[in-house]
Amino acid sequence: MAIDTVSVGKVRGAGVVVTGGGAGIGRALACALAAAGARVVVNDLDAGAAAAAAEQAGGFAVPGDAATEPGVRELIAAARGYLGEIDIYCSNAGIAAGTDPDTPDPVWQRAWEVNVLAHVRASRELLPAWLERGRGCFVVTASAAGLLTMLGSAPYSVTKHAAEAYAEWLAATYGHRGLTVHCICPQGVRTNMLAESGRAGQVVLKDAAIEPEQVASALLDGMTAGRFLILPHPEVRGYYELRAADTDKWLRGMNRMQQRIEEVERGMQQ
Ligand SMILES: NC(=O)c1ccc[n+]([C@@H]2O[C@H](COP(=O)([O-])OP(=O)(O)OC[C@H]3O[C@@H](n4cnc5c(N)ncnc54)[C@H](O)[C@@H]3O)[C@@H](O)[C@H]2O)c1
Repeated sequence: MAIDTVSVGKVRGAGVVVTGGGAGIGRALACALAAAGARVVVNDLDAGAAAAAAEQAGGFAVPGDAATEPGVRELIAAARGYLGEIDIYCSNAGIAAGTDPDTPDPVWQRAWEVNVLAHVRASRELLPAWLERGRGCFVVTASAAGLLTMLGSAPYSVTKHAAEAYAEWLAATYGHRGLTVHCICPQGVRTNMLAESGRAGQVVLKDAAIEPEQVASALLDGMTAGRFLILPHPEVRGYYELRAADTDKWLRGMNRMQQRIEEVERGMQQ
């Protein structure tokens, strides 16, 4: 079934692809969209995880790499084979990679591929059909790190800013031609990624961490309201406003947090 603008009502019957849908936020998105009546294709690098999540969502698994050019092309072809039309594409797969300027170039490059180019490559495949029929919905899972920063990981912060910028660019460029874009920007979410996020992740994100299902429900609410920015942690809006209105004050606050992380690290070494 085709959709005009996407709302929960219009999710019913829509053809949906979720990348990185085998675990965490992606699995929750797949299950929530399926519960709202969508027909779902679940992609993941981990074939077993994709199959299990697809079964949970009553959908179809297409394992593979959702970042490389051939991987994206194969995923979208297989999804079209199953769904007919793709109405909603959740470009969700992402990786936490690297730390500081000493992070080796190949790690920066992989972060760029998965956290940014995956979105570019998917939209390259999807846009011609969407613009021709005058509707389509592209959902990018960026991060609050894409609006603010992620202490402890320069590659993650930089690539998530780029993901958010690309989502904005798509919305600004194609909004009048029927493209709806949503950009999900959570802080900590209880998934494997958070569990493996190291000291900075634990200090900065753990206390306010939410469940992946809350992210999915924020997306469904945002779809109904027609909002670009999906902020499952509402406080992120205030931080984002402060960053724009008084960047120096915001940076001083972030640096204080960095010092706190270093103190915790020193305490653990003693
Ligand atoms: N967990 C958090 O705190 C948090 C916060 C903000 C944003 N995010 C973002 O949410 C998204 C999902 O993260 P998560 O926390 O659910 O992580 P996760 O590690 O729990 O799950 C990610 C899934 O994506 C898959 N994946 C990774 N690279 C892939 C690729 N190239 N192609 C296909 N599948 C791939 C993994 O196999 C895994 O199953 C990411 O983009 C992440 O950056 C997470």
